[in-house]
Amino acid sequence: MSDAGSLSNFLSELRPPPEPSLSTIPAIPAGLSAEPIQDGGRSGRLLLIDSLEINRRLAKGMLRSAGQYEFFEAATGRAALDILEKQPVDLIVMDLMMPDISGPEFCRRLKSSRKTQLLPILMITSMQGAEHEVLGIDAGADEYLTKPLHPSVLRARVRALLRHKTAIDSLDEAETILFALAQAVEARDSYTAEHCQRLATYSVALGVALGLSRPELVALYRGGFLHDIGKVSIPDSILHGSKRLTDAEWVIMKQHTVRGEEICRPMKSLAPVLPIIRSHHEKWDGSGYPDGLSGENIPLLARILQIVDIFDALITERTYKRAFTVEEATRVLEDEVTRGWRDPELVSLFISLLNRNMLESTASLIDTDWPELSSMLRSLQGMHSGIQAASTPQVIQMPKPVL
Ligand SMILES: [Fe+2]
Repeated sequence: MSDAGSLSNFLSELRPPPEPSLSTIPAIPAGLSAEPIQDGGRSGRLLLIDSLEINRRLAKGMLRSAGQYEFFEAATGRAALDILEKQPVDLIVMDLMMPDISGPEFCRRLKSSRKTQLLPILMITSMQGAEHEVLGIDAGADEYLTKPLHPSVLRARVRALLRHKTAIDSLDEAETILFALAQAVEARDSYTAEHCQRLATYSVALGVALGLSRPELVALYRGGFLHDIGKVSIPDSILHGSKRLTDAEWVIMKQHTVRGEEICRPMKSLAPVLPIIRSHHEKWDGSGYPDGLSGENIPLLARILQIVDIFDALITERTYKRAFTVEEATRVLEDEVTRGWRDPELVSLFISLLNRNMLESTASLIDTDWPELSSMLRSLQGMHSGIQAASTPQVIQMPKPVL
């Protein structure tokens, strides 16, 4: 039976709740009303969802003294979804039992949407029993409280969830800046944003074929955008010089791997991407940089991205070269295997995926539902036009390759 079926049966077996029910919450004890506000000045936009107006009013009464909250109210799940479409909200405080959409189903909808998946949910119910709590948490509620509520506990949970939301927002912002920077670097290097998108999705396609884990695939996707971010530290005269690089200039150019790792290292969420950034120029025979790693000592994710990067560069028109055909690019990759530079098995797998048109089909699947990537996708949506407008003279519009 499906999860939805199990859930539906489970809920139908439940007896109706006695009273949907913040109404059973006792009045705020006089002593607590004078409780010091530890987070004075804390603010946030709270969406209260409860079918009974009296319950929403009670919740507001408890929370008003704890911070400068702005409240939105909904009596049904659908009304709440309407509000979420129109208003930015920082926290949802909801009753488990709603007249139209069940609480767990409502949570699932929010957590499966890129727009609302990081929105914290505090679920409240009068239903006693650990099974209800498990149901709510499993559906995506971040906190769960059983009535009767203690006002100070409700306030503390709200404060904690809002702190968490603030941290998520700042992380989102920092990642956005990094991805914007990475896009700007690619634009300087005469690539369009499509180059990064292809690197990201085709690398993941190769990762899927290798049976990699979801976190590894997410790292590959992010690596597609961030691997050359260190080029931001390379002077234009070296990055775009028309002459062949001198030995001294090559030393500087090679530093983009290490610089990129340094730029991204402070962000813990990017830790799985660091080996890609640092090692994407290593060679199978140990003649690459920056560490001269060889064979399987080169991180697998870096080897994957490297193959896709080379292939995409070959089939792409640049200021100094025409676009190679897929057949020509494939021959170059095979030649590099013969020279000992590339992982033979990975190149072989990549070419077999190409021949079966597997890259495009996997890439289209990735684009449809990858909630882990929401922050990056949002970033990219906002930045493409600005970067391309700023870089128009250098950007060459590439046709999407037919693989
Ligand atoms: Fe690079």
